[in-house]
Amino acid sequence: MIAAVFSLVLVIAAVIFLLVAAGVCYTSLRYRSRGNATTEPRQIFGSRRVEILWTAIPLLIVTGLFVVTVRAMLAIDAPQDSGRAPDLVITGHQWWWDARYPNGVLSTGDIHIPTSRRLLARIQSADVIHDFWVPELARKMDAVPGRASYIWLEADTPGTYEGACSEFCGVQHAWMRFRVIAEPEADFEKWLRAVPAADEPLFINKGCASCHSSISGKGPSLAGLSRREFLGGGISRNTPENLMLWLTDPQAAKPGNRMPNTPLTADERRVLLAYLERL
Ligand code: CUA
Repeated sequence: MIAAVFSLVLVIAAVIFLLVAAGVCYTSLRYRSRGNATTEPRQIFGSRRVEILWTAIPLLIVTGLFVVTVRAMLAIDAPQDSGRAPDLVITGHQWWWDARYPNGVLSTGDIHIPTSRRLLARIQSADVIHDFWVPELARKMDAVPGRASYIWLEADTPGTYEGACSEFCGVQHAWMRFRVIAEPEADFEKWLRAVPAADEPLFINKGCASCHSSISGKGPSLAGLSRREFLGGGISRNTPENLMLWLTDPQAAKPGNRMPNTPLTADERRVLLAYLERL
């Protein structure tokens, strides 16, 4: 819809440009000085007909574009205050995105949606201003602290759509990537109902759970971690080696992030890694 409005404006602008350029070329050739002029050419002051025309035509064009733009905005913009509960709540954090579904499931990095259904997504921020953008699916929407914004999120074709934060939000702004995974309704329901793995005692005793739980929201939820392709908002691929780096030296994995070093023995790290890979 945005592309259609853009194309229309482009075509109108191109036609006007060509008409003006052609007019300039024609008059400068047709009325050029031929070197033998002895008197000034005839001077014309004011023409009501021409002035009405060059006021009315642009006015008509601009009015038309106004109507087309307003209609596109009404079709694209989600209601900002409808009282309707959102289908998913998307939160920007320094530096990752997560989505919470009505049944309480919290997914980090990967946002699963069913195809051919328009979802009302609430966009919000946990810290600073971010900007939610999936170029192929929806318009951009700022995630502003203390404020809820709404957009429609819809995919007609199953697939994986790349998304990014498009508002500078700190040193790791570039690694605030995410994916929207659109799948048929049945697959989506299956994903949504997938049971998370049982908790590992070390995960709780070492304090990991105080940030990485679907409830605290202080760190990214690790639910469904094993099925994610990337870690840390896209900074590295989800491999055992890269995951291990987060356990040994989080600041090396993603400089500036809020995860502290946790003293762990090699054995403990192995147990935790195996646990994370079951999630
Ligand atoms: Cu979040 Cu840039």
